[in-house]
Amino acid sequence: MYRAVIVYDSRKGHTESVARGIEQGLRDGGVEVTLKKATGATLNDLKDADAVVLGSPTYHGEMMASLRTLLFEMEKADLRGRVGAAFGSYGWSGEAVPRMSETMKHVFGMNVVEPGLNVLERQGDPNSAREFGRKIAQSAQERRR
Ligand SMILES: Cc1cc2nc3c(=O)[nH]c(=O)nc-3n(C[C@H](O)[C@H](O)[C@H](O)COP(=O)(O)O)c2cc1C
Repeated sequence: MYRAVIVYDSRKGHTESVARGIEQGLRDGGVEVTLKKATGATLNDLKDADAVVLGSPTYHGEMMASLRTLLFEMEKADLRGRVGAAFGSYGWSGEAVPRMSETMKHVFGMNVVEPGLNVLERQGDPNSAREFGRKIAQSAQERRR
């Protein structure tokens, strides 16, 4: 069984609802999923995951501090070749998603599903998150073959 962990933060619930859609899509694709708030997440939560999926809204042009902290922690793990993906909700500029994708790709050498899913606040198509989850599931399965 393939495993994925979704680690996200959200102040007002928009990114959280995207996380739940991605969780559904991963399950549709036959992947076992754990959903975690970034504030309580540790490297231990990532250790058995074939795919690591990070979610953050953009505030003041940045990802939330909890995701920045986790990305610093992730330097200590060997994530090379594992599947990574990023998502988040935004209002107008949406920097968090590309920043998380770039770090997973360039710093950790992960196999990143691009582009990440950047959902404009209140205009997100509920099916897009589920589809993104299915796409990540497919990448995790292809990587293990
Ligand atoms: C104080 C504040 C700062 C924000 N800064 C940005 C920003 O720099 N760029 C952007 O695209 N959206 C910005 N937003 C909009 C949020 O990203 C948007 O409301 C998002 O849906 C929040 O997601 P959440 O419900 O998961 O917290 C800001 C919102 C607030 C309240």
